[in-house]
Amino acid sequence: MLPDISGVDVNMGCPKSFSVSGGMGSALMKTPEKAYEIMRALVEKFGDKISVSCKIRVLRTDQETFRYIKLMQKAGVHWISIHPRTAAEETRVPARWYTIKKLLETGEISIPVLGSGDLFSPRDVHKYLSYTSAHGCILARGAIHNPGIFKLKQAMLDLATPLISAKDDQSADEDDWKESIVEPVMDEEQN
Ligand SMILES: Cc1cc2nc3c(=O)[nH]c(=O)nc-3n(C[C@H](O)[C@H](O)[C@H](O)COP(=O)(O)O)c2cc1C
Repeated sequence: MLPDISGVDVNMGCPKSFSVSGGMGSALMKTPEKAYEIMRALVEKFGDKISVSCKIRVLRTDQETFRYIKLMQKAGVHWISIHPRTAAEETRVPARWYTIKKLLETGEISIPVLGSGDLFSPRDVHKYLSYTSAHGCILARGAIHNPGIFKLKQAMLDLATPLISAKDDQSADEDDWKESIVEPVMDEEQN
């Protein structure tokens, strides 16, 4: 089967009860040691043949999130994608783009980082990449609403002239986000 598979990407982001009730999806982020062992085993078994990666959400604090990401890096994952909202928040708050930016500014991450969250147009992607310095991004609702968005790949990737600088960005400010925070309502389900 391996010739037909280009990579294994472990879903550590799904907040739905059908996943978390079985210890899968975002529940894995509550058991970092288990997640580490899973990723380590996948890397050891397949890492020299295909890409091994994981998709995560953020935890309650940047400190916890960064510790988790560094653990995945230590496990040997080739790259990681991050949705900067907690599992409990789903899409009820703006994605914290600044968390991806802060993560990369630590200088402690050597694997490619893909970000996501609230990307609905090539302009959004352009802003995201220039603001965060992420190596790439993934789209969910933007692609569902407009599957043709990927035809505009070149417009998305043309970073020759950043549309914004980290200084004057108005969409991803930490204080703005704090004002719009909502209580996580799905925590009980995940425990
Ligand atoms: C229908 C749907 C299903 C999703 N399922 C998952 C999932 O299983 N695991 C996960 O990490 N994220 C999942 N997500 C979240 C997306 O992968 C993405 O990180 C998030 O929606 C942010 O992107 P967006 O703001 O562009 O929608 C899902 C999103 C949608 C819309």
